[in-house]
Amino acid sequence: MSNPTSPPATTTQTGTPVASDAHSLTVGADGATVLHDRYLVEKLAQFNRERIPERIVHAKGGGAFGRFEATHDVSAYTRAAVFQPGAESETLLRFSSVAGEQGSPDTWRDVRGYSLKFYTTEGNYDIVGNNTPVFFIRDAIKFPDFIHSQKRLPGSGLRDADMQWDFWTLSPESSHQVTYLMGDRGMPKSWREMQGYGSHTYQWINAAGEKSWVKYHFRSQQGDLHLDAATAEAIAGADADFYRRDLHEAIERGEFPKWDLFVQVMPYEHAKSYRFNPFDLTKVWPHADYPLMPVGTLTLDRNPQNFFAEIEQAAFSPANTVPGIAISPDKMLMARVFSYPDAQRYRVGTNYAQLPVNAPHAASVHNSSQDGAARHRFNAPTAPVYAPNSFGGPVADPALAAEGGWEADGALVRSASTLRADDSDFGQAGTLYRDVFSAEAKMRFLETLSGQANAITIDDIRERFFQYWTNVDAGLGAALREAYAAGVIADAPEEPEAAEDDEAA
Ligand code: HEM
Repeated sequence: MSNPTSPPATTTQTGTPVASDAHSLTVGADGATVLHDRYLVEKLAQFNRERIPERIVHAKGGGAFGRFEATHDVSAYTRAAVFQPGAESETLLRFSSVAGEQGSPDTWRDVRGYSLKFYTTEGNYDIVGNNTPVFFIRDAIKFPDFIHSQKRLPGSGLRDADMQWDFWTLSPESSHQVTYLMGDRGMPKSWREMQGYGSHTYQWINAAGEKSWVKYHFRSQQGDLHLDAATAEAIAGADADFYRRDLHEAIERGEFPKWDLFVQVMPYEHAKSYRFNPFDLTKVWPHADYPLMPVGTLTLDRNPQNFFAEIEQAAFSPANTVPGIAISPDKMLMARVFSYPDAQRYRVGTNYAQLPVNAPHAASVHNSSQDGAARHRFNAPTAPVYAPNSFGGPVADPALAAEGGWEADGALVRSASTLRADDSDFGQAGTLYRDVFSAEAKMRFLETLSGQANAITIDDIRERFFQYWTNVDAGLGAALREAYAAGVIADAPEEPEAAEDDEAA
C-alpha cells in the first residue's frame, strides 16, 4: 500500500468531506448515537452489502490475467479470429474447487475448475472446463441433485459420504469421473501444475462453412503433479488458501505459468457412426482415433488488482461463443448455456455483463437492451431502442444464422441417448484404472477408496459401492471388499504403466 505525504480528504460516497473515521456523532461524549450521523449510517449500510452470493458451485477460487497466442494453423477447422495463426488475445483464467464454500481449504479432494475467458476481436469466448476430461452425469436434469449430494446435509450442515455414494452408485455414468476424482487428479499439487479440459465436444466451423467436432486439452508446461493425501490434509489445516497463494506469488515473482492448447478434431460426419456417442460428456475420445493437434500457448502474467471486481464478479459461460465456434448436441452443454447467465443475473446482477471484467475488451456492444439495476453504460440519447428501425441502429447479420447447427428431428421424448456398440457406463473407467494409472497411482487410489468404504455408514450403500467398483474392474472390487472385511487398506495389484492420462479407450 502507498503512503502519500498529503492524503486526500475522506468523503461520503457522494463526495462530501467527513469529520471523523473514529468517532460517531453522539449526544455528549457519553451519550446516545444519533441516526442523522449520515456518514456512520452510510458506512455501516454499505458494509452490510459488501458480499454478493457465492457461486452455487465452484465458490472457492482464484485467477489471473494473461494472453493466448495462436502458434499453429487450425484455420482448416475454424474461422474464429482467436485461433488464427499469429493472433494474440487477452485472457482471464479462474481456477476453483467444486463443492467447498468460499473459505474452504484449497487442498480438499475435489475436481478443479478451469474457466477461461478470451477477450477476442469478435467478442468474448469462454471455455468453462475442469482439470478432468469428463463429468459425473450426462443429463443436466440431474445436476442440482448431484450437487446437493456432494454439499451438506440439510439438518446437520455436514458433508456426508452416505449421501455422496448413494448418488454415485445409483448413477453408474459417474464412474469414469469418480475414478479421476479418487485418483491423483483429485489432489493437484497446485493450480499451475494441472491440466485443463473443455471436457465437452464443441463445434468448429471454417471459413467455407465446413463443420468439425472438437475437444480442448490444455497441457501444463509446469507438469501434471499431485499431492499425497497426508500432505494435502496437513496443508488444509495450515493454509486454506494454498493454491491461491501459490498462483499469486508465482506471478509476482515473474514465474508465469503456461499451458499449451491442443485439440482433438473429429470430422463432422464421423459423429454419426462413431462407435460410442461422441457427445457423451462421460467419455474421452482415444488419441489413437483423434490425435492431439497443437493450437497455441496460454500464459498467465498479471495478477488481479482487485480480487472482488475481477475474480469474484467474473462471469464465465459456455453461452459465450464467437463466430467459427459453436456448441454441440451434448445435452449437458445445451443446458449450461442457460444456467450460467441465469446464475450471474442473480449472483452479480442484471447488468453483470457491463462490468469491466465481463465486458468485451477487444470488441464493442451494440443492441437495444436497456435499463435494469445498476446499468451504467447507455446508448446515445438519439440511438433507436428497437429493431428494425430506420434511424441507423445496429443490424444483425443473417449470414450467421446458418452457423453452429446440426441435423435433428424426432418426437419429443424423455429418454437416454440411443446406445451405440461401445457405449457403456463402466468401460472407460476400467481402462483408466487398469491401463493408465501407474502402480503407485493405483496404490493411492485404493487407499483413498478404502477410506471411503469406511466412511460409508449404511450397509446397502456400501454393498452398492463394492458392486460399482467391481463393475469398473472385478479385481479392484474384490480387493476393496477383502480389505474392508479385514479392516485394512487394500493392496494394489502390480500393473504396467501406460501413456496418456486422458485417452481411455
Ligand atoms: C448441466 C450441468 C451443469 C450446470 C447446470 C452447471 C451450473 C453451474 C453454475 C450455475 C455455476 C455458477 C456460475 C456463476 O455463478 O458464475 C457453475 C460454475 C462452474 N461450472 Fe458448472 N454446471 C454444470 C456442469 C459443469 C461442467 C460439465 C463443467 C466442466 C466441464 C463445469 C465447470 C464449472 C466451472 C469451472 C465453474 C466456475 C466458473 C467460474 O470460475 O466462475 N460445470 N456451474
